[in-house]
Amino acid sequence: MSVPVPSPDLSPFLAACARRQLDDRVPVWFMRQAGRSLPEYKRVRVGISMLDSCARPDLVTEITLQPVRRYGVDAAIFYSDIMVPLKAAGVDLDIVPGTGPVIAEPIRTASDLDRVRPLSADQIPYVTEAVRRLVAELGETPLIGFAGAPFTLASYLVEGGPSKDYARTKALMVSRPDVWHDLCGRLAQISATFLVAQVEAGAGAVQLFDSWVGSLSAADYATFVQPHSASVLEAVGRLGVPRIHFGVGTGELLRPMAAAGADVVGVDWRIPLDEADRRLGHRYALQGNLDPALLGAPWPVVAERTRAVIAAGAAAPGHVFNLGHGVPPDTDPAVLQRVVDLVHEEGSDIRRA
Ligand code: CP3
Repeated sequence: MSVPVPSPDLSPFLAACARRQLDDRVPVWFMRQAGRSLPEYKRVRVGISMLDSCARPDLVTEITLQPVRRYGVDAAIFYSDIMVPLKAAGVDLDIVPGTGPVIAEPIRTASDLDRVRPLSADQIPYVTEAVRRLVAELGETPLIGFAGAPFTLASYLVEGGPSKDYARTKALMVSRPDVWHDLCGRLAQISATFLVAQVEAGAGAVQLFDSWVGSLSAADYATFVQPHSASVLEAVGRLGVPRIHFGVGTGELLRPMAAAGADVVGVDWRIPLDEADRRLGHRYALQGNLDPALLGAPWPVVAERTRAVIAAGAAAPGHVFNLGHGVPPDTDPAVLQRVVDLVHEEGSDIRRA
């Protein structure tokens, strides 16, 4: 039996990534579409920790498919976490419900660096296995592989957990650039290995999440972050799949994030997509950017804002509809379903108008 491989001719998502605006479909998926907003996810996860669930190909396959079945989105996102490859590389960490990643012993000095060891693909066989199963099940719907970018991963390792101001991370960055660059070089190797493993097993696109990099100035981004993110994107670029590069609050970083090696730039809700397109010189496909906090507003408001995102996205050479960040845990799945249906039913007319 031959497995259909997603191609830009068959997949609206891949067409948009390749900077083609299709006449008949605006593609849509949601960051964090798999997970806590779905009752079927909560049922599967009873009694199993987040990190344990990520090491079980049967669960990863089921959880990744849940939102695809339910919503009819145009792409699946691999169910895992940005911390999974760090754990596999031997960093002692946990994901605490309601808090996020927590690191047993934070990385703050040159002597701590030994605890961030290289990752090899044979340390993540469950990732390869789950991707293979998913690609076989998904048929023409592409699977998006992902990884955390070095800055966002470093922020957890240095702070020891989630942070509001990244003060320790920034202090390390500017006071010990040697330690910083060594750490980010190690993290780039780990992320690249995680991404390449997913693509070699069949993922049709990748997203590099630099969720927290919007806290940096453009100058510090260029000096301390861009080279490391570029090395991750370069490693996977050789494999020929589209690369999405995303962060929150990155209106001032769009150009250097694109220049790091993106095909698609993920944009949050703070800047309209036509303005993002202008800042990028009309050269990149865009992904985004409905404000996730608005999903709790009355439907007519959500519908108007959804239409406005599609209209602004029409300026770009390609547009993948998404939220500006992940699906909030308390989101009513019925609202996401209405957003998907609106994008599919009205999207191409709005874009042509
Ligand atoms: O649907 C999907 O997007 C696929 C799976 C996915 C998860 N995490 C599953 C998850 C993806 C792509 C991620 C990426 C991730 N993880 C990011 C980048 C994306 C972003 O939102 O900016 C970051 C920063 C993390 C680190 C992390 N992991 C956080 C902040 C949390 C939330 C902690 C909490 O409970 O509030 C996690 C845990 C996590 N990752 C959950 C899921 C479904 C929730 C854990 C659970 O259900 O028990």
